[in-house]
Formats: sequence, structure tokens, C-alpha cells
Amino acid sequence: MAGLFITFEGGDGSGKTTQAELLATWLEEQGRTVVRGREPGGTDLGLELREIVLHRRGHIAPRAEALIYAADRAHNIATKVRPAVDSGDIVIQDRYLDSSVAYQGAGRVLDGGEVRDISLWATEGFLPHLTILLDLDETTGRERLDGVRTRFDRLEAEKADFHARVRSAYLELARAEPERFLVLDAPRPVDELAADIRARVEALL
Ligand code: TYD
Repeated sequence: MAGLFITFEGGDGSGKTTQAELLATWLEEQGRTVVRGREPGGTDLGLELREIVLHRRGHIAPRAEALIYAADRAHNIATKVRPAVDSGDIVIQDRYLDSSVAYQGAGRVLDGGEVRDISLWATEGFLPHLTILLDLDETTGRERLDGVRTRFDRLEAEKADFHARVRSAYLELARAEPERFLVLDAPRPVDELAADIRARVEALL
């Protein structure tokens, strides 16, 4: 059986993890082996990089930040994701290179296309078979997070206009690659979203 690499994208609080878990459970019920992933921090090295990039006190230069995400990604793909997909497993991951384009590009300092090229170099051009974008307006995402969290990472603490730019960058990426993306309206009921996702994945199996 051919392996698959499926990624979930969306703003903070858009419900990526919930949907990723539901999809993983359903695929396991179909007899598939599922590997769960996330970025940053999907590997042992990645956990150290995650702590630096999300929680280090003090300024990190934008290019350095982009390269830390790319380093995490390079190691995750080379040591975990690519071997699993090659052996026929399905990797379901929270966030991938589209996060870098949307977030690092939204700081206005870096060009989204350049950020994407760095990730493509880091991963030897490894793109997901399917990317599910849970689209959410930035105010709703923020309200959901405020309800459950006490510790905000560097990006969660950014202002609303930053998150609005992240959202429009995501939508632009989805428009550019409609065959890779499934865009869903995140506030819809969890079960309905899960059913739409299953239908799209079923077509790939
Ligand atoms: P995380 O805490 O893993 O979860 P959530 O998706 O629930 O927010 O997200 C970590 C943060 O990292 C998130 O605010 C987006 C950011 N990020 C980037 O800026 N660039 C990237 O390439 C990746 C993978 C994440």
C-alpha cells in the first residue's frame, strides 16, 4: 500500500489537532498504520528547537527564526516522515511548510516565496499529498485560545493584524495549489468537518 503525507494547517485555535486525531482514529479503524507528527517539535532534536523558537526570551532575527523552523522540518522529514511514508504508513501532521510561509511571511520582513524555497531545500522538495486548511477568522481563533490557555508562545502573542495576514497568506496558498488543499470553514460542527475530511482522504487511499 502506498504511504501518504497529510498535513493540517490553520491559525491558532482552529481545531487542527482535534481533526487530526479523528482522522488518525478512522484510518486506524480501516487497518492503516498512522504516524502522528507536528512541527515544530516532531522529533527529539525538534523538541529542543521548538523550545528555542517558541519560548526563548529575547529577539530572534527573522532569518534565524525561519532557519530554525526549516532545520526542525529538515530533520523531521529525513528521519521520521519520509521513512514512514516510504514504508506505506500514513503520516498525519499538525503544521508544515505552509505554516512557515504564512507566519514568517506575515512579519513583513521575509518574502513568502523565499521562505517556501528554504523549506523545499530543507526537505528535498517533499510536499504533502493533501493539506487541510481549517480557515478561521482571527478574532474567533483568539477567543478560543483565551478560553483555554495561560501561556502564550511568541506567535500567539502577536497582534490581530498579524493573524489576519497569516489567514490571507494561507488562503492565497490554497488558491495557488487547489489540488493539494482542502479548505474548510473551521467553525462548522466537528463531526461535519471530520466527514468532509474522510471523504477527501478516502479518494486518495
Ligand atoms: P503549536 O503550539 O504547535 O500549535 P498550534 O497549532 O495549536 O498553535 O504552534 C506553534 C506555533 O508555531 C504557531 O503559533 C505557529 C508557529 N509556526 C511558525 O511560525 N512557523 C512554522 O513553520 C511552524 C511549523 C509553526
